[in-house]
Amino acid sequence: MTFALRINGQTRQVDAPPDQPLLWVLRVQLGLKGTKFGCGVGACGACTVHLDGQAVRSCVTPVGAVEQALVITIEGLAAKDALHPVQQAWIDEDVAQCGYCQAGQIMAVASLLAETPNPSDDEIDARLTNLCRCGAYTRIRTAIRRAAELMKERAA
Ligand code: FES
Ligand code: FES
Repeated sequence: MTFALRINGQTRQVDAPPDQPLLWVLRVQLGLKGTKFGCGVGACGACTVHLDGQAVRSCVTPVGAVEQALVITIEGLAAKDALHPVQQAWIDEDVAQCGYCQAGQIMAVASLLAETPNPSDDEIDARLTNLCRCGAYTRIRTAIRRAAELMKERAA
């Protein structure tokens, strides 16, 4: 089937069976390789993208279910002339180790902070279930706090 997907501000036509995971459409058909494959079963979060602002795991999201949605990947997160505050915080706090999980982590955090600008530790624990094989969790937590501050400063 042919789908017209709204991805990162553009409409893209793709041919795929409706049950094809969105992850493979993004990576293989559209060349958006910032979204990573980790577990393939919705457990690790490496493949996290936004659907209408909600963080979803694209490895378990069929492309047939997203035609009406606005899809944002890590490639589309920054504004034209400025990094997203979460991306900036990740640089400021030097979060990445191998980097493999980081696009998914950033997308999950951006969605969390859009809904909950000042999350408690419990809210972060509940929402940020992405796995990091390098164990960068302490720096990730610090960067979430930094991103929340940056968002507040930019809104002031
Ligand atoms: S690759 Fe999608 S959750 Fe692990
Ligand atoms: S930085 Fe290596 S898996 Fe997270």
